Amino acid sequence: MKGGVRVIEFIRDKGLFHLHNDKVSWVLMLRDDELGMPELLHLYVGKPLDNAQSAVMLQTNEGASFDSLRQILPYACPTQGRGDYRPAMVSVRDKTGQSISELFYTGHFISKGKPALPGLPATYTENDEEAITLKITLKDPLSGLRADVSYTLFENEPAMAISAVYTNEGDEALTLERAMSAALTLRGSYSMLHLAGGWGNERQVNVLESSPLTRTISSSRGASGHEHNPFAAFFKPGTDETSGECLGVSLVYSGDFEISADKNAYGTTRIVAGLNPDTFSWRLDSGDSFQTPECVIVFGDAGLNSMSAVYHRLYRSRLCRGYWRDRERPILINNWEATYFNFDHKKLLKIAKCAARAGIELFVLDDGWFGKRNDDTGYLGDWTPDTDKLPQGLGRLSEEINALGMMFGLWFEPEMVSPNSELYRAHPDWCLHVPGRRRTPARNQLILDMSRRDVQDYIIDAVGTVLSSAHINYVKWDMNRNFKEAGSDELLGGGEGELHHRYMLGVYRVMESLTKAFPEVLFEGCSGGGGRFDPGMLYYMPQIWTSDDSDAVERLKIQYGTSMCYPASAMGAHVSASPNHQVSRITPLATRADVALGGNFGYELDLTKLSEGELNEIARQVERQKQLRRTTLRGEFTRLLSPFRGNVTAWMFADTERLILCCYRVLARPNAAPFVIRLKNVPAGMYKLEDGRLMSANDLMNAGLIIDFPHGDFASRVMVLEREAAL
Ligand code: DGJ
Repeated sequence: MKGGVRVIEFIRDKGLFHLHNDKVSWVLMLRDDELGMPELLHLYVGKPLDNAQSAVMLQTNEGASFDSLRQILPYACPTQGRGDYRPAMVSVRDKTGQSISELFYTGHFISKGKPALPGLPATYTENDEEAITLKITLKDPLSGLRADVSYTLFENEPAMAISAVYTNEGDEALTLERAMSAALTLRGSYSMLHLAGGWGNERQVNVLESSPLTRTISSSRGASGHEHNPFAAFFKPGTDETSGECLGVSLVYSGDFEISADKNAYGTTRIVAGLNPDTFSWRLDSGDSFQTPECVIVFGDAGLNSMSAVYHRLYRSRLCRGYWRDRERPILINNWEATYFNFDHKKLLKIAKCAARAGIELFVLDDGWFGKRNDDTGYLGDWTPDTDKLPQGLGRLSEEINALGMMFGLWFEPEMVSPNSELYRAHPDWCLHVPGRRRTPARNQLILDMSRRDVQDYIIDAVGTVLSSAHINYVKWDMNRNFKEAGSDELLGGGEGELHHRYMLGVYRVMESLTKAFPEVLFEGCSGGGGRFDPGMLYYMPQIWTSDDSDAVERLKIQYGTSMCYPASAMGAHVSASPNHQVSRITPLATRADVALGGNFGYELDLTKLSEGELNEIARQVERQKQLRRTTLRGEFTRLLSPFRGNVTAWMFADTERLILCCYRVLARPNAAPFVIRLKNVPAGMYKLEDGRLMSANDLMNAGLIIDFPHGDFASRVMVLEREAAL
């Protein structure tokens, strides 16, 4: 992110704002409505324009009757009740029950850099030259609602971060019923790509064609969820992975969200993203303000890969933070699928010894180390080590693991409480609940009321105490159930609609506090696998467990879909046992490692049960990963062949040193023709093939390579092509 231009021009007499760099233009315009009041339109996003006035010509609404005009105009901050009829960005209800508002421009402010969002995760800059921010102020004369919408354009990236602050400048209280982060209105029809799934098959690529209706993805679960991810991409027919224009919409938030795309009868597509209005309302007393989460919009001019590459760079380096942001991540062994709850000090050490021999760098002790937790029926909240399993405590275990030359990591599920726990018996009111209603457990657990300060402080203290008690270098932060019958004693009598967002603000406060207090601890997010894999989490934790489905074939789709918005450095990817525990599939050890190579690499199986030959193979895989991880962490990732379309999946990583081509064939076929793959986005230079031949970037992309898959189903081939010299 060096040396690019980023400019905001305000052409006063035309009322035009042109935010642009050498990758994108974004044009906003002030327009007088029928009564001469200035409203804000968003006219253009796309390739850089020479002159912002060219975008004004797109705004030809001749012929629009008075009644249809407001259904055509691309309002930048649309409201309710004034004949737009498409989804609004903001809506407030006043004490008379009205929810009509009209927002008119009153001023703007341009500043270098990017202000932080209080209490919320957000992209950031390291110095003020990296971005420029335009804040536009709009006001409703009657209700007193004020909207400050901020647009931050990053240097040299086609990326715009948008968020809003809604303030009540009137004398009477208002209820914010819709507080979205961003709205934009495009002309024409757009396909909508989104990432959907469930536990064990998160973030599958789905494409919805355009139709005259509102397409919505959302969560109301208290977490971004397994079902939908807070990301969507929009494009016109003909766009594919490497050609055509597209627009990504990604919400930096981990709770209830909504992204919708409404196509109306006048050929406009209104995209709105933000907090899910179904589970949100917020009281704004006179003078109160509300900060929305941030929405990051990325323009890709060369297919979906070009959009993903921007998200990868931005999220890796200007959303993730801290000690581990740019560091190579340790190769880990996690005991979950090796032992589940059935372990003791001796068993763990046996696994750790095998892992150390193979060169693994971090041992992670998963669920079951605290209370008397021998299954999932109790003790969440009681974060004291189980003296039966660990008679010498975590301190001794971590020392012995350290003595083997490995770091030590620990699992927590801080936001939860088991009804069978000391914590619940002492504080039955600390879980989310509604007086008079059942408290229905899921996985035998209830959710702590993270909107409460005392609960937040308890968790900060309890987790912090454990982290200080032993040599702990890593934390896996799990969250295994979603909201039901959710209420808070502290929000009774009017504040109920604030709970879901206040919960997230509480989680963020706890995460901020713990990650600050333990800056060198590597935190990995998790939520029953990838049920909270979102940009909000990445602000606190640079990596997330991608899915509980560790089967190599299943992972092709999961990791491919995840890569639409998230960098490989964010994805936990482990080699697990065969037959696989989720789908019973038997796959070669080599394939499992070749798939896991595309993320934060680790193992999740009982190494003590493997043969000498398998352990030696693992040692070789670990050694290879140590050689390659610089490139998988920071290199540019390109999707080549989709697992959603065919039998062969392929992707590649490229940096200045090398290119790593990863190909996976699911089913073998007899008498098959040689498989040829043409690479994409190869940095100019000469590359050394494994047989010593040299090939140019140009030839790799045009002639391609033959992939000689090993015999049998579930085969993979990873080719490392060292870059000899730039051409
Ligand atoms: C769900 C996680 O995704 C798993 O990896 C494991 O940590 C279990 N929870 C433990 O309960």
